[in-house]
Amino acid sequence: MERMFVVALLLLTTHAVLAIAAGPSVIIVGAGFSGISAAKTLSDAGIKDFLILEATDHIGGRIHKTNFAGINVEKGANWVEGVNGTEVNPIWVMANELKLRRFYSDYDNISSNTYNQEGGLYGSSEVGKAIEESESIHSDGEKLSARLPPSGRSDISILTMQRLKNHVPTSALDMVVDYYSYDYEFAEPPRVTSLQNTVPLPTFARFGESVYFVADQRGYESVVYHVAHQFLSTDKASGAINDPRLKLNKVVRHISQSSTGVTVTTEDGSVYKADYVMVSVSIGVLQTKLIKFEPDLPSWKILAVYQFDMAVYTKIFLKFPYTFWPEGTGTEFFLYASERRGYYPVWQQFEKQYPGANVLLVTVTDEESRRIEQQSDEETKAEAMEVLKKMFGPNIPDATDILVPRWWSDRFYKGTFSNWPIGVNRYEYDQIRAPVGRIYFTGEHTSEHYNGYVHGAYLAGIDSANIMIKCIKHGFCKVQIKDKDS
Ligand SMILES: Cc1cc2nc3c(=O)[nH]c(=O)nc-3n(C[C@H](O)[C@H](O)[C@H](O)COP(=O)(O)OP(=O)(O)OC[C@H]3O[C@@H](n4cnc5c(N)ncnc54)[C@H](O)[C@@H]3O)c2cc1C
Ligand SMILES: *[C@@H]1O[C@H](CO)[C@@H](O)[C@H](O)[C@H]1NC(C)=O
Ligand SMILES: *[C@@H]1O[C@H](CO)[C@@H](O)[C@H](O)[C@H]1NC(C)=O
Repeated sequence: MERMFVVALLLLTTHAVLAIAAGPSVIIVGAGFSGISAAKTLSDAGIKDFLILEATDHIGGRIHKTNFAGINVEKGANWVEGVNGTEVNPIWVMANELKLRRFYSDYDNISSNTYNQEGGLYGSSEVGKAIEESESIHSDGEKLSARLPPSGRSDISILTMQRLKNHVPTSALDMVVDYYSYDYEFAEPPRVTSLQNTVPLPTFARFGESVYFVADQRGYESVVYHVAHQFLSTDKASGAINDPRLKLNKVVRHISQSSTGVTVTTEDGSVYKADYVMVSVSIGVLQTKLIKFEPDLPSWKILAVYQFDMAVYTKIFLKFPYTFWPEGTGTEFFLYASERRGYYPVWQQFEKQYPGANVLLVTVTDEESRRIEQQSDEETKAEAMEVLKKMFGPNIPDATDILVPRWWSDRFYKGTFSNWPIGVNRYEYDQIRAPVGRIYFTGEHTSEHYNGYVHGAYLAGIDSANIMIKCIKHGFCKVQIKDKDS
């Protein structure tokens, strides 16, 4: 009798093991870098029964090249940020493996390349002083940040820190230096950005202070394809991914879950069922109703998602018949100091990156981005030309072409990258990533330390997949989030 029981139990166990070997199945929503890296991590762990649903016609998401006046430029991510530090940035490793064409960004000489609102350069010692002062306030801010309690309850904005140090930028020059130090990185002003969570920034503290500009005709997206090719089948002749587990042009609109599984419905009416789902869409998209969850996400989750910021960073490319700006060592970056903070402030010329193309890049963010997205490209071109004429005189040629990416208006992005606002503590941040039943979350906005970056997206994909794997394979499904008061 006892023996019989043992046999039956053994049979049962074998059966259960077989069932696990056949499943589980996972649907990944979004084929940006985090979605691709999550899928690769699942695949490496033996979970090969997955389906990636991507809304657009390409993988890579916010890492995306586009043809502009005959050259491929990056309308999304452009730099490998955080190089030459104590830890190695995994994206830097890929860039080396792929021999991506890339250029060290040298901002050292910016004090000699800062223009007055009405034209003419500021004296380099005057700008140098403004930069030094800003940097010294910043390092004071680092010390202050280190003394804030980990609960986050006493977090302050970068602007509050500046007020405490009696340094609030008000002149056109101080404002453009301030913009270049903060907005140009975070795409939101110091008034918004959390001191505790961005000063110092883990990306630069760990991976190094250097940033490298990728200007490769294959596109920065090569890093995403590099990872994708390692686990998705590829057509030998064309090099195109032809894996049936990747489905492009599939806009997910509905995700429902029950105790037994998930059902995902796309805009074209297709219905997919799986055991789990991994959602990798941007936090901007999560803040809209593009995807309906059923049952609704719990309120702790919704609050965490809605509190974080999706910032907007707009890279406007302009093409000219010939160059009229300074070239040579130490001239790549230049600033325009307007009384209107953030008005066409940071410029870059590409004599090294795109020789002979006669292309300039000007970057705007936040409110200027939103304003510019809503006007015609002709209007934007006219504004940019007016600023260029202030800097270089009235006799410069008109731009022959302009590229204005519209990430904020795009329902699949709703902005460019997340920024950590004042008032969100670590506990609330971790809740953005926390799974809800069978629904898991990834994306740069869930990255442990590197939200907003390419490496953040890549590493977040690995981390979120590992959280799922731990649950599926080892039964550890309860995610530990440190309490805000600990
Ligand atoms: C203009 C700009 C400049 C940047 N500059 C830099 C830089 O220089 N250096 C740097 O490190 N980082 C930079 N970043 C940030 C970096 O690009 C992102 O952090 C990273 O690419 C995000 O990857 P992700 O997988 O989290 O999100 P995404 O790339 O947004 O991937 C999510 C995917 O989900 C898809 N999707 C959305 N909705 C749906 C839906 N309903 N159904 C199915 N699919 C959907 C999207 O199409 C997308 O492909 C920049 C970003 C932008 C936009
Ligand atoms: C790192 O720094 C060293 C010394 O400053 C420099 O020579 C080298 O080129 C840098 N390397 C990278 C990858 O930036
Ligand atoms: C700095 O920029 C100025 C003005 O563009 C230029 O003349 C000078 O050569 C540059 N200096 C260095 C060290 O690159």
